[in-house]
Amino acid sequence: MASSSFSRAVFQRIQSCILGIGSLVLAFAAVPALSGAPAAAQTSPANVWWKHAVVYEIYPRSFQDSNGDGVGDLNGITSRLSYIESMGIDTIWIAPMYPSPQIDFGYDISDYVSVDPQYGTLADMERLITEGKKHNVRVVLDMVLNHTSDKHQWFIDSASSRTSPKHDWYVWNDGIPIDSAGVNDYQKKYVQTNLEGKHVVPPNNWESLFGGSAWEWVPAVHQYYYHKFYKQQPDLNWSNPTVEKAAFDAMRFWLDRGVAGFRLDAIPTLFEDPQMRSEPVLAGTNAQGDPNLQEIYTQNLPEVHNVIRRMRVMVNGYAGDRVLIGETYLPNTAELNKWYGGEAHDELQLPMDFLVGFHGDHDKLNAANFRARIDEVQTQVYGSQPLFVFDNHDNVRAIDRYGDGTHNDLINKVLNTVLLTSKATALTYYGAELGMPTTTPTRKEDVKDPIGITGWPKEKGRDGERTPMQWTAGPQAGFSTNPKTWLPIPPSYKTNNVAVETKDPNSELNWFKQLAMLRRTNPALHDGKQTMLDASNPDVLSYARSTGSGPAVVVAMNFTAEPKTISLDLSGTGITGSTVKTLAADDASLKSVHSLKNITLPPYTSWVASVQ
Ligand code: NOJ
Repeated sequence: MASSSFSRAVFQRIQSCILGIGSLVLAFAAVPALSGAPAAAQTSPANVWWKHAVVYEIYPRSFQDSNGDGVGDLNGITSRLSYIESMGIDTIWIAPMYPSPQIDFGYDISDYVSVDPQYGTLADMERLITEGKKHNVRVVLDMVLNHTSDKHQWFIDSASSRTSPKHDWYVWNDGIPIDSAGVNDYQKKYVQTNLEGKHVVPPNNWESLFGGSAWEWVPAVHQYYYHKFYKQQPDLNWSNPTVEKAAFDAMRFWLDRGVAGFRLDAIPTLFEDPQMRSEPVLAGTNAQGDPNLQEIYTQNLPEVHNVIRRMRVMVNGYAGDRVLIGETYLPNTAELNKWYGGEAHDELQLPMDFLVGFHGDHDKLNAANFRARIDEVQTQVYGSQPLFVFDNHDNVRAIDRYGDGTHNDLINKVLNTVLLTSKATALTYYGAELGMPTTTPTRKEDVKDPIGITGWPKEKGRDGERTPMQWTAGPQAGFSTNPKTWLPIPPSYKTNNVAVETKDPNSELNWFKQLAMLRRTNPALHDGKQTMLDASNPDVLSYARSTGSGPAVVVAMNFTAEPKTISLDLSGTGITGSTVKTLAADDASLKSVHSLKNITLPPYTSWVASVQ
């Protein structure tokens, strides 16, 4: 099993942020008691496109190279629209393709209203949007609002002088005298000399998520600026209304060009504590060697919700139900509910629910855990639409997190079954449909992701989940004509590729396609309520989907390496009928099941059937 301790470490970091949020909540606001809260009327129509979407995240460097430079590009994505459409995908989210020094591979934007030449031109992007429409594929862009690149003209101006009109666009601080009360050894490592010749240190112990202090000194202004991520990613000052206006203008630029919406990067980190209080220090150090902190003053501050409400109003001004998707790692469903705007439904339409797909150190197939998390988000967010996600460009792929090393292919089918048959918008990541494994670098000198270099060997970086898409068993897996691809082609490409899997009726790819199509065409899977069945079974996750009229659907997945026999009782669900007809099964023995009694599911199998 391929696995990456690096990405595991990133994920653990996310978990520590989550812990921090819990405390912040206690400090600033009461958590609404949502358990059992009645679902309020939805503000969005039931059939709005994003409720039924299957969203596919594309890392543009790694999807398809069209010009032979070894790096993927926009024309490459356009050339693969037929494949995307054939999989039952109707929306793509493209990770940042704007001009960027590429320190964080695009998450350091130096111009929000253009395209990085290595990915193409603005005309190429416009063509991708237009061609996408012909394939019924919408384009969602990644919008990075917490920070820019240090090479963005805004920051260059801001850092040039304290009197620059843009100075206040970023988070600057004079530092505090080194002998101030409470200054710790960590802060002292970042000592500087101020204009009066006095020794100053950062105002608090805030750390960059990517290692080291979050404060960087600029001699030209004799001040520190704050950066939650790399020092080349200075944080914008969202307390300044001009920043909001500039950011919304950038979003409008793309909305005017027909994008379907945005995935909002690191959105809980927009605001910091104005009092600059130090975060509580936890035991131990992280993979970058810094003290562990409980991030209560740099994540999820309540002010962010005012921005999101205004953003929603702005986006609602466009026809076509444009959507706001949030990168929201949160500790629990009550916190997730806030990102929807709770009962008011006036914030994000789709904050990502990482609670279902990322169980942290406990990542393994645990039926009780999945059942509880799915049920919770469907009953405790006032009827808002859940968005499930198992994979992205920052974490070890789910096939490796949940895989047991022996049944990974089947386990990947189980995960895609949960994703595609639940009453939730589905978000997947290129390669997850194939069961592409994580391929982590084995030598430090091969690592491209900077945190993998500074964190080696504890953190090996995120390269492992960003390897080129595996299209064929030919040269460079069909990704590029250039033998020197930006990341190496993983050895798995020989068998794990689109060409080979397309021909195999039992492949992971064909399983994905089959379910994505069923989800579109079967009314119960398209729209039906999801009700857990056999709810105390520790080994098998089962549920029904039913619209109240027409045939219901039952889904069952064996989460273990042993055969399991189940009987599903529909009494109390309002579903009538007891004859079943298999719609999809990844084991031939299940194709002839006709009754809900005594169904034996072989190890890690998934089964979907219609009830008449
Ligand atoms: C989250 C993105 O997914 C990640 O790749 C990036 O490094 C950080 N935000 C900073 O933008």
